[in-house]
Amino acid sequence: MKLFVATHNQHKIREISQILPGFEIVPDDPEGVEENAPDFVGNALIKVRAIAEKHKGEWCMADDSGLEVKALGGAPGVHSARYAGEPCNTPANNALLLKNLEGVKDRAARFTCCCALVDPSGEELVVHGHCPGHIAEKAAGVEGFGYDPLFIPNGYDKSFAELSADEKNAISHRGRALEKVKAIVGDGSVADGSRVEHVERVEGKGGSRVLAWLKLFRVVNLPTVPGDVLVGAALWPCFAGLGLSVSRTAALVGASVFLYLFGLVDNDIVGAKTDKGRPIPGGEISIGAARLARFLCLAAAIGVALGFGMPGLWWPMSFLLLVSVALYNRTKWSFLMGVCRALNLGCGVVAANTVYSMDAALLLEPAAVACVIWLAYIWAVTWYSKGEEDDPEKKRRVGALVGGIVYLQLTALLVLSLMFPQVAAMRPLLIAGAVMLILLRLFKTLLPKVSAS
Ligand code: IMP
Repeated sequence: MKLFVATHNQHKIREISQILPGFEIVPDDPEGVEENAPDFVGNALIKVRAIAEKHKGEWCMADDSGLEVKALGGAPGVHSARYAGEPCNTPANNALLLKNLEGVKDRAARFTCCCALVDPSGEELVVHGHCPGHIAEKAAGVEGFGYDPLFIPNGYDKSFAELSADEKNAISHRGRALEKVKAIVGDGSVADGSRVEHVERVEGKGGSRVLAWLKLFRVVNLPTVPGDVLVGAALWPCFAGLGLSVSRTAALVGASVFLYLFGLVDNDIVGAKTDKGRPIPGGEISIGAARLARFLCLAAAIGVALGFGMPGLWWPMSFLLLVSVALYNRTKWSFLMGVCRALNLGCGVVAANTVYSMDAALLLEPAAVACVIWLAYIWAVTWYSKGEEDDPEKKRRVGALVGGIVYLQLTALLVLSLMFPQVAAMRPLLIAGAVMLILLRLFKTLLPKVSAS
């Protein structure tokens, strides 16, 4: 099997040929391309696209790799090759790394390798490999290249540069990523029998723009939003004997979803340079288009609220929600995320015209209890989700916890209907809650690639 590889690095070519012995590795230097993406995936794609243009109908691959040191906030990362400045100077890079870690106790680090592939039909795929370890106090060994003399993989007391090529390849980030490449390009078998994971189809050239937008809007998570306001709205008929009309409830849900979408797009705009795997840094959606979408979402929320005559208190509550969303996006303080969702529930509570009347006092206590539970749950899940991008198992667990929001909302609606069986207005709210659960399950099954917590 012929595989065109976008590199001129002789060390890499040697390692790739060793790890993929059955392949005819044809190096092709993607001369002149600028590796200016904010992450490994972006740079690997830039390189592979540059050579795939020349080798249509063939398998092409590029890898981008580097060292990420925890105490340095992930540096040198994508700048590994030129950590000490241009041009690439390995002794200077290693000296700078040791200098920056002087006196640092926690020397945990990992190598990451991202391989981007273009298949003969032009479709793009991406796989990752990681090798965790730590940075030694001083260099040791002469094998390998780059940071190898300083990197001690977990479970070893020798540096990469003290291991034989076979030993390094068996555990290295590149070895792990290339095993997946072998399974995709070759006969489908992986040496250790494990399944190929982390294969992302990178689309976005034309046909799959829709997918990129669904990803930007985190469509899979959307069914978790209406339940907030539904629970808030349910407190009225239960505690004050006054129900919201169906049209008011629908408008409440619509405005809430648009405000949420505004927050999501704003979040991706703020992280346009840093958020790995998201559509804006990946080049699938331009920042200008995202800004327009953010404006349209806000306009739609305001339009729905005006159109259906949301009462006075809904406006300051929603304004507070917007401020919390904007602050959360810029600080990533998980508590604020909890505040956002509690305020969303609050928007449901204040959506009745009668909110100024005495009846409102009856709602205060149950609304406060619901808001505190919401705040605590969302705060905890957001706090726990930190670092999920680099940990597929954690990402899966966070996905389940986010899905759990709908179960919580449905449980709240169910408890209210059991506590107040005479309240007829609970029935449509319960049905709406159940529809959200069905939508969530459906989206998770149909759009697994769009899922993001
Ligand atoms: P690139 O993938 O060609 O952009 O280079 C990544 C840089 O990361 C290299 O120049 C090395 O400094 C470092 N690097 C990547 N993989 C390894 C490895 O296996 N051993 C040591 N250093 C590596």
